[in-house]
Amino acid sequence: MTAATALSVRGDGGGGRAVPRHVAIIMDGNGRWAKARFLPRIAGHRQGAEAVRRTVRAAGEIGIEVLTLYAFSSENWRRPVEEVSDLMGLLRHFLKAEVAELVANGARLRVIGDLARLDADVRALIDEAIARTASGTRLTLVLALNYGAQDELVRAARALAEEARAGTLVPEAIDVEEIEARLDTAGLPPVDLLIRTSGEVRLSNFLLWQAAYAELMFVDTLWPDFDAAALAEAVTRFGARERRFGGL
Ligand code: IPE
Ligand code: IPE
Ligand code: MG
Repeated sequence: MTAATALSVRGDGGGGRAVPRHVAIIMDGNGRWAKARFLPRIAGHRQGAEAVRRTVRAAGEIGIEVLTLYAFSSENWRRPVEEVSDLMGLLRHFLKAEVAELVANGARLRVIGDLARLDADVRALIDEAIARTASGTRLTLVLALNYGAQDELVRAARALAEEARAGTLVPEAIDVEEIEARLDTAGLPPVDLLIRTSGEVRLSNFLLWQAAYAELMFVDTLWPDFDAAALAEAVTRFGARERRFGGL
């Protein structure tokens, strides 16, 4: 089965409403939200963390299986050190404060991205949060941390090359499944619906492989204003899209 045919939606038996299995969100607009209020950018990021909490809860209630949130890109290191440190501080806080709520919501945590560049204490908090939420079965919350799709594909290509050099994999055996198995998202369903907030219309190096057949949705809402109603509206609009996967 190819990546495209593996895509599927969980519907109501064909009656129209379909819930995407995997929703991915580029959470953008925190800085502009703060600027519009004459507040420092960190205030926008704090409100953004509140929006994460609301959205995770709503995703579980709607019946979404996987919610992937772009929290920090491999390019975000280009920001001023103070902002990077503020964002890492919020991440630490989230990992400590939200685990109980994740467990209560039946959510299990997973991360994608190159974690090697994160501070050791953040990595330890991630490991702990993953362990404590391991029994969640309702929703998989995937946090993209120091994530870049090109970097992810480079790491997958290196893994394949290493196996070929070691003689454990012949080049002819490399297909869609073998590549997917070496991506950070291995085992997750492909992205059905990709939402970007704040009116920007670009992918910014997010899930380039996994979103091959995703429905793209760009909304003007700034991320700190995103809520359950905004997610429900996106899911409703998704249900009205006709997906063809190259067929008729
Ligand atoms: C998204 O908001 C948060 C991260 C990228 C970490 P931004 O910080 O990019 O907000 P804008 O784009 O400056 O408004
Ligand atoms: C994308 O937002 C990254 C995250 C949401 C974590 P950015 O605000 O960093 O993207 P660009 O720089 O506008 O493309
Ligand atoms: Mg931005």
